[in-house]
Amino acid sequence: MHLVNHIREIENGVTRPSIAEAEDGKYYVIKYLNDSMNGKGLFNEYVAYQIGQALDIPMPKQILLDFNSDFINRNEAIKIKNSRPCQCIASEYRRGNCNINPSILKRVENHQDIPGIILFDQIILNNDRSINPGNLYYDQKTKRVLAIDHSHIFINGLVWDATCLQNLLSEGPQIVPEMNGQIYKYLSHYVDGHSPFHTIQNKIHNLDLEEIRKKICAVPDEWGITSREIELSFEVVQMQVNNIDSVLKKIKPHFNFWKGEMDNE
Ligand SMILES: Nc1ncnc2c1ncn2[C@@H]1O[C@H](COP(=O)(O)OP(=O)(O)OP(=O)(O)O)[C@@H](O)[C@H]1O
Ligand SMILES: [Mg+2]
Repeated sequence: MHLVNHIREIENGVTRPSIAEAEDGKYYVIKYLNDSMNGKGLFNEYVAYQIGQALDIPMPKQILLDFNSDFINRNEAIKIKNSRPCQCIASEYRRGNCNINPSILKRVENHQDIPGIILFDQIILNNDRSINPGNLYYDQKTKRVLAIDHSHIFINGLVWDATCLQNLLSEGPQIVPEMNGQIYKYLSHYVDGHSPFHTIQNKIHNLDLEEIRKKICAVPDEWGITSREIELSFEVVQMQVNNIDSVLKKIKPHFNFWKGEMDNE
């Protein structure tokens, strides 16, 4: 499916996404190759979505769309950013609100999904949700909080390479460096009771890693990810998943409302 109309650029994103209409008449927030977005960022979004889907993390539906030269040439705002034809990441546009704060969080109807979002961040090593208030989204229609923006995973965001991934692997299972960020503090109120991570932990234990691997390998060529990088990124995910119990132990001190000992998990 391809894009038909460029609606507008989004002002508050550093990777300069746009809202565009596709052939199906729906609006999507699109991320594509340009001066502010590279193949690593697109790959990060793609990998995170595959894992998020498998773990039932609430996220806007994401698909790949044909971002072609005809569309680029028809839209000056896109053309001047040195945009290149590619499969773009298209996140179905949801009416709502970014900039999550405690009063919006109070209103959401899926508090039970919050521990899952936090543990998902540890699997993909997403250091961009604990501080940045723009990476959770309040979906007006469903009144749910959604996880958005996975351009900056594997700690190093848009700039990782095989060496960075090898370093992560040799460091062993880990948690995101910014666990003390303000947004995680807000979320911590919903990480409460005796076994807040029980549901997501079970899903992670049952995750079909081979299926994830197959999907990661199907990444579009034009994003320029080497087969070595694909393999190593999968190994990082695999390391985090296979050691999720020790990851959970490491994040526990950051959640004051989580009661009891780890053995209860
Ligand atoms: N599916 C969606 N529906 C509605 N709005 C969205 C959607 N996806 C993203 N947005 C909006 O676009 C903004 C930028 O998107 P996103 O956070 O993915 O991009 P970014 O450029 O990587 O942002 P950042 O500045 O956090 O690095 C979000 O803060 C949100 O307001
Ligand atoms: Mg963002």
